[in-house]
Formats: sequence, structure tokens, C-alpha cells
Amino acid sequence: ANDAGLAKNTQIELDSNCISMVADAVGTPFYCYSPEVIAQAYEELSTALSPVGASVCYAVKANGNLSILQLLSRLGCGMDIVSGGEMERALEAGVPASRIIFSGVGKSPREIARALTEGVHQINVESPAEFHLVADIAASLGLRAPVALRVNPDVDAQTHAKISTGKKGDKFGVALGDVAGLFEAAAGRAEIEMVGLAVHIGSQILDLSPYRRAYGVLADLVRDLRTQGHAVPRLDLGGGIGIAYGDQGAPSVAELAAIIAETVGGLGCALTVEPGRWLVGRAGALVTTVLYTKEAGERTLAIVDAGMNDLVRPALYGAVHPLGVVRSARGGEGQSYGVVGPVCESSDIFGVYDDLPQLAAGDLVAFLCAGAYSASMASTYNARDLVPEVFVSNGRFRIVRRRQTTRELMALEKDTVWQDVESG
Ligand code: LLP
Repeated sequence: ANDAGLAKNTQIELDSNCISMVADAVGTPFYCYSPEVIAQAYEELSTALSPVGASVCYAVKANGNLSILQLLSRLGCGMDIVSGGEMERALEAGVPASRIIFSGVGKSPREIARALTEGVHQINVESPAEFHLVADIAASLGLRAPVALRVNPDVDAQTHAKISTGKKGDKFGVALGDVAGLFEAAAGRAEIEMVGLAVHIGSQILDLSPYRRAYGVLADLVRDLRTQGHAVPRLDLGGGIGIAYGDQGAPSVAELAAIIAETVGGLGCALTVEPGRWLVGRAGALVTTVLYTKEAGERTLAIVDAGMNDLVRPALYGAVHPLGVVRSARGGEGQSYGVVGPVCESSDIFGVYDDLPQLAAGDLVAFLCAGAYSASMASTYNARDLVPEVFVSNGRFRIVRRRQTTRELMALEKDTVWQDVESG
């Protein structure tokens, strides 16, 4: 066992021996999570935010596993959802609707109706068209919709282009120039209760200065709206705070809390943040077995049994997840490997890792910091079944998502029949 490998660059407080035995019991690949690390992250965040009185709604998209939602919900955390499916998950996990915020740029009429009927805390509306649709649906249901406007503050989050959301021209949020008009419109629609403003500028943000600018824009808006006679009781400050994948530094939540206090702390608004990655990202690892090694030109490859369908972030964003060695038969150090998966795509490459022991078939390695946007972004491409997810804690393990079987997937495609297309 090589404990140093796993300790490096991760908060997963699991020893290699333990993971190795879980791997023998469960089979690889699998995701393993530390419930303690998730709980610690939540406590650290809520403690840091308590001086500014901000509540936390976890962005379910980062990892919607029911056991994770239950764990966070029991700690008092609310949820930020972006689909009917995420709402179903949050409710199933026991999260009261009164602690759910519904975000997202393309909510369907059915999803809006369901959210209103369940009585969610807030719907973050992202366009004038959505505003009017929510109002119409609320009217038809005889309900009042608690609406916050998600504004596009036109701030560059200085993160990867694929996860930047707060620049003018991005698809997210209401343009600053439309905000006052929509507050005005809301005053004329009894079925809308305008509860405030929301902002989310992007994800994996490591330099916090864009937050200062975005929250500054929000504060100015609040003052303007109030001058025009509108109440702005709530502010949703979004998520996006980054974590260290490897050796780079990462901001602390205390710094974020200080920026919140400075910019929007004195406005008397009820504040909420919606982080996903920060709460669960460091608490997970994808454990995988080395199947083969081979020479490819100058490089030695290690082919592992996890692929881009299990963990797509490297292929999609060029992300690099630190690699921990769980079990290596030959040992040694200083070896360099290109680590690749079995999927039939050239982009199924996790990265080039130096400083590994000599790898051989049967060795176990783990992609670290894989608690967020990892299992939740997995697919079954190449007819590869979704892998199990396992909690590991104090020498015990609990399978919190069992391995999917190809039979289960194929059942959806069986007994199909032709039907007449009815006209009218
Ligand atoms: N609130 C809203 C409205 C969001 O769109 C998101 C993330 C969050 C909160 C949570 O952001 P976080 O705190 O987790 O950064 N798949 C990408 C990340 C996409 C994030 C999308 N929105 C990745 O793997 O890096």
C-alpha cells in the first residue's frame, strides 16, 4: 500500500488499504466518497458565512446521489436545482420544498408548474419570456410565484470558457437593462411575488475578484430598485468557488465571506449561496484498475478500466484530476505514464502523470477530487454501465448506488411496438 499517494492533493481521509479492500469487494471502477469530508466542508462553509447570515443551497448538479443529498439536508443545507429530475431527487431525499431554489435557463412549463405546486422557496427567472410564463402558470394554478431575477452582471469570471456564465452574451441571466422593467411588470401581476435578485458568474473560480465586481453590480441594482420603490428582500449569490485540483492554491470561504460582507452585507437582504463543487468535490475519488501497459511512441501508457464516460472532465474541459496510487505490485517511483481509458475515442485520455511507481496490470489507482461533476456527468457511451458509488467511513463501506446492469438498460428498448400516428 502507498498511503502517501492518496494523501497527496486530496482531503479524502481514507487509507489505501481500506480502499483496496473495498475495490476487491465492489469491483472497479467505482466512485468512493467520504461523508465526513462532505460534512466538514458544509460545516466550514456555514461557519464562515454565519457572520453575514448567508444560508447555503447545495447545487445538486454537482452530485445528486440521494445519500449525499440526505447527508447535506440533515445538516440543514437547502438545495439549488435545475430540473424536474433534481427536484424529484431533492424531495425524495427529504429536503423540504421551502428550502429549494429552482435555477436554470430553460425550465419547461411542466417543471415550473410542479415547482409551484410543491411550493419551492424561490424560482430564479432568467428571461422576460420566462417571467411571463411563470406568471401565467401561477395564475392558472391560483398560486403566487416567489420569483428572483437572475441577472447577467457582465463580469468575466476568469475561468474555463465552458463554465463561465456571467458575461454579456452568455446564455444565462436577464440583461441589466431589463431588470427594472421586470420589477415594474411584477408590480402589476398579483401572481408574482418578486423576492429579489440572483447572480452566478461561473464555476471553478480561483481568483475571487470577479465576485467583488458581480456583487458590487448587485448592490447597485438593489439601491436603484429601492429608490424606484421596489422591495428587494433576498439576494442569491450563486456558487462557483473553486477547489485545488493538485498543487495550485484555492481561495478560502472566509475570503468569500469577507467579500460578501463588504459588498452586499449592509443591505438588509436575506442572503444565500449555491455552491456545488466546493461542498463535494474534494470528498470523492474514482477508483480504477490498470488493465494493461503499453508503449506508444515515446510514451508509456497505462490503460485503466475507467473511461471518459465515467469521468468526462478531462476530455471536456482539459481538467486534470490528481492521481493517487492505491495499490502497486512493483513499487518504485519517478515513472511517467499517459493514463487512458478503454473508450473508443482519442479524447479518452485522463492526462500524463509523472512520479508514479512502475505500474502493472492489476494495480489500483484513483482519480482524486472526483466528488463533483464526475458521477453526475457520467454516461453509458460504449454500452458501459454506470459505475457504483460507495461511502467509505471508519473502516466500513456502504454502496449508495449499485452497479447498473446492461440488462436493465436493454429492458428500456425491449417489447417495442409500432403505433399509428393519430391525427388531430
Ligand atoms: N448555481 C448555478 C446557477 C449554477 O449554474 C452552478 C453551476 C452552481 C450554482 C454551482 O457551481 P459550483 O459551485 O459547483 O461551481 N461541469 C462543470 C461545472 C459546471 C457548473 C455549472 N453551473 C465542471 O465539471 O467543471
